[in-house]
Amino acid sequence: MNRILFLKKFIDEPKKIGSLTPSSKFLARKMLQNLPWKNFSHIAELGAGTGIFTEQIIERKSPACKCLIVEQDFSMQHLLKEKYNNPPRSNLIFDSFAEDLYETLQEINFPPLDCVISGLPFANMEKDLQRRIIENVHCSLKRDGIFVMFQYSLQMKKLLNEYFSSVETSFFLLNFPPAFVYLCKK
Ligand SMILES: C[S@@+](CC[C@H](N)C(=O)[O-])C[C@H]1O[C@@H](n2cnc3c(N)ncnc32)[C@H](O)[C@@H]1O
Repeated sequence: MNRILFLKKFIDEPKKIGSLTPSSKFLARKMLQNLPWKNFSHIAELGAGTGIFTEQIIERKSPACKCLIVEQDFSMQHLLKEKYNNPPRSNLIFDSFAEDLYETLQEINFPPLDCVISGLPFANMEKDLQRRIIENVHCSLKRDGIFVMFQYSLQMKKLLNEYFSSVETSFFLLNFPPAFVYLCKK
């Protein structure tokens, strides 16, 4: 079901969706398993798609930790709400556009975030939009906040280095296509 929705959406809007199929659960585990979950009180997920990371975020975060889940596609956002917010959980909040992250956090009274997790397809975006989103992530994070994301190339490293004090990358084969994981610290 998730794969079919994903493929349909990719056919409609290949640039925005960015991949033929959801990421593997192994990639989600690789990105999430070493984060300091106990210290997190406010986090965000950008480009949640059909929820391969969302599911593991909900399993790993403490029940009190509030999570803003951002997905621009209406059907995918609807599916995420059905799957993970039914009945509604007070600590999950849904929104649409990563480029409005900072403004959204002000509207919902979130303090600076501990961590942002991204599945956004930056490689398909115009340079202006890439920068706008990275600026939003940077100013939404607290002083030692963490930004973790994946891409299929290293092309985002230069831009991330402009904003973050450290940017580490690693290559991960257990995904289609294999992916680079970026771990950034503010
Ligand atoms: C490559 S998919 C990743 C989905 C999921 N995280 C995964 O790894 O399977 C990228 C997702 O980002 C969403 N997206 C693209 N641009 C966005 C934007 N500006 N704001 C919010 N979501 C966006 C797409 O709709 C798509 O669901």
